[in-house]
Amino acid sequence: MRIFVAGGSGAIGRVLVPLLIHEGHEVTALSRSTERAADLERMGATSIVGDVYDETALARAIAAARSELVMHQLTAFGTTDGDPYAETIRIRIDGTRSLLAAARKAGARRFITQSISFMCSPVGTGLTDETTPLYLDAPTSTGDLVNAVASLEQQTLDAYPTTATVLRYGWFFGPGTSYDPNDTIPNGLRAGTMPLVGSGAGNYSFIDLRDAAAATVTAVGREVSGIFNIVDDTPVRLSEFLPVMAELIGAAPPELMDEAVARKKFGDMRVYYWNEQRGASNAKAKRELDWEPVFPVWPKGFEKLYSAQSSPPR
Ligand SMILES: NC(=O)c1ccc[n+]([C@@H]2O[C@H](COP(=O)([O-])OP(=O)(O)OC[C@H]3O[C@@H](n4cnc5c(N)ncnc54)[C@H](OP(=O)(O)O)[C@@H]3O)[C@@H](O)[C@H]2O)c1
Repeated sequence: MRIFVAGGSGAIGRVLVPLLIHEGHEVTALSRSTERAADLERMGATSIVGDVYDETALARAIAAARSELVMHQLTAFGTTDGDPYAETIRIRIDGTRSLLAAARKAGARRFITQSISFMCSPVGTGLTDETTPLYLDAPTSTGDLVNAVASLEQQTLDAYPTTATVLRYGWFFGPGTSYDPNDTIPNGLRAGTMPLVGSGAGNYSFIDLRDAAAATVTAVGREVSGIFNIVDDTPVRLSEFLPVMAELIGAAPPELMDEAVARKKFGDMRVYYWNEQRGASNAKAKRELDWEPVFPVWPKGFEKLYSAQSSPPR
């Protein structure tokens, strides 16, 4: 299939693009940087240098590549000095609008969108599934991001009512993600800014980047539509994995922190992640995509990633 990937140079894109090509697909991928475009060419893709907000140029590129499927793997966390979520919110609302409009103008038949499995309401018990309401009434900063995710999903399903697939990935795990030994979460532990909040009840559904990419390739081949959680089989509470991570990376055990103190110090979103999120079920993806994760994150992936202790620079 001829596939246009926006976000092919990102954390999942760098694993996904070579896999799509290996499976025989013809990939055209977008990047704003000539350097990353060259990386995409080395992976075997045709690269396009451009910006997702330039709808006209995008439509031209998608049409020129005669892409049948457009894939949205765009995110932008922490790219501004002020509000760290502003750019990722913008790309999910305005970037999605632009990419969808370009895809439709260019005549692409299908659309696959990256979404997030851990944006569901914490009200209730057990793992969330694809019918669990999103946490739209979350406190401000979390609520803004959740509403952007809701917009991304709804825009996608409205634009391609029968041929859109929304993949709600779990917490990306592996080299080049926030869990990389040299990235945000381990660095936070080393710096003492990753406390165990409340009872540490936040239940994390991880996904190894290789499994996330494989599930995406499966979705391409299956022509399924709708929303799917793409997460692994072993959700794990923060209280269980954080002390183990600290030990593996040689950091001090995480500090215990009262929830109200953490809310003041770190904001509502972190408290939601650390003490409230419920974890997600992958039953629908297993059933309807006939997909199985093969790389366990907890605890084997932890041991593997953190015992190596080094990874290539991002
Ligand atoms: N489910 C999850 O756990 C999840 C989801 C997303 C991200 N993350 C994590 O967050 C961290 C950083 O993620 P990130 O979002 O900053 O980067 P990222 O994973 O590197 O992906 C960003 C992608 O979006 C593209 N992009 C961004 N703005 C664009 C624009 N205006 N036009 C065209 N393309 C654009 C980038 O392309 P160019 O820069 O090449 O133009 C890149 O391919 C990573 O550690 C990742 O693991 C986690």
